[in-house]
Amino acid sequence: MRGPVAPSCAARATGLRWPLHRASAALGGGVIQGTASEAVLVVLLAARDRALRKHGKTSLDKLVVYASDQTHSALQKACQIAGILPENMRVVMADCDRNYAVAPEAVSKAISTDLPSGLIPFFVCATVGTTSSAAVDPLPELGQIAKAHNMWFHIDAAYAGSSCICPEYRHHLDGVEEADSFNMNAHKWFLTNFDCSLLWVKDRSYLIQSLSTNPEFLKNKVVTPRNFSLVCFRLLPPPSDEDNGHKLNYDLMDSANSSGKIFISHTVLSGKLVLRFVVGAPLTEEHHIIAAWKLLQDEATKLLGRWRLSAWPAIQRTAFTETGQQNGIK
Ligand SMILES: Cc1ncc(COP(=O)(O)O)c(C=O)c1O
Repeated sequence: MRGPVAPSCAARATGLRWPLHRASAALGGGVIQGTASEAVLVVLLAARDRALRKHGKTSLDKLVVYASDQTHSALQKACQIAGILPENMRVVMADCDRNYAVAPEAVSKAISTDLPSGLIPFFVCATVGTTSSAAVDPLPELGQIAKAHNMWFHIDAAYAGSSCICPEYRHHLDGVEEADSFNMNAHKWFLTNFDCSLLWVKDRSYLIQSLSTNPEFLKNKVVTPRNFSLVCFRLLPPPSDEDNGHKLNYDLMDSANSSGKIFISHTVLSGKLVLRFVVGAPLTEEHHIIAAWKLLQDEATKLLGRWRLSAWPAIQRTAFTETGQQNGIK
């Protein structure tokens, strides 16, 4: 998942009545995907896991997805990846009298047929601007159906979503309020050249629960000795320090980063919080390193002063030298 900024801007631009662009501080939010296919995949995974939490892990083969035959094949691919049984994908024939939008009654009928067999309807996908004929599925009615059966309601507006920036097209989003997720491709009509698919979710916790792995390195922690351009170091705590320098080093990282001049991250090695200084930018020169080192020393000195501990050794580097020995960098 990428950042939430662009989706919220786009939401304002498109005048989405869906309150998601205001919801980042509450439950919802926006996240950029590369493509609409990725968007439908991630929300399907979130919906699947939400359903499995409710019905039990062994219910996967009972979960059913509903969409019209005009839905983009991305949904079918997403179902394959998510482990939805092929026979549990209901392809409801669109209505030729509605420019090939799906009739809500047909979706309701399919659900009613499945329920007595113990199947679990969990996901319905509507399209605003189908690939074939630019049909718009009836969002309010499909939203009500989804709500009645506690299903995830996704709206794929990959192509046509951008047009809703124009007031005269906004009525096509009537009913969007009931959606759990909504997606449009900025790289189609939104003057964005590179893959940029804007996805909003009503409750971001489902995406986070499904897709977070939370490994140490994604928490700015890489458990590795110094190699290549990475130097791991820590400010030595006093022997009596109860948390063994954790707070001290965290504060040093915080104050160095707050300066706005450098950005360092941290890791945990042998249970100890260790700071990481890595040179990644190709234009970095020696004077940058020296300035960074000076800044670290200055911040460390200030910190030590604040802690009223003047007799600490300066900095101990825990990284290994080329000879494999642990080395100090005082
Ligand atoms: C309605 C609709 N949904 C999904 C897609 C797939 O978009 P992407 O290529 O970003 O996955 C398209 C592509 O044209 C589309 O028109």
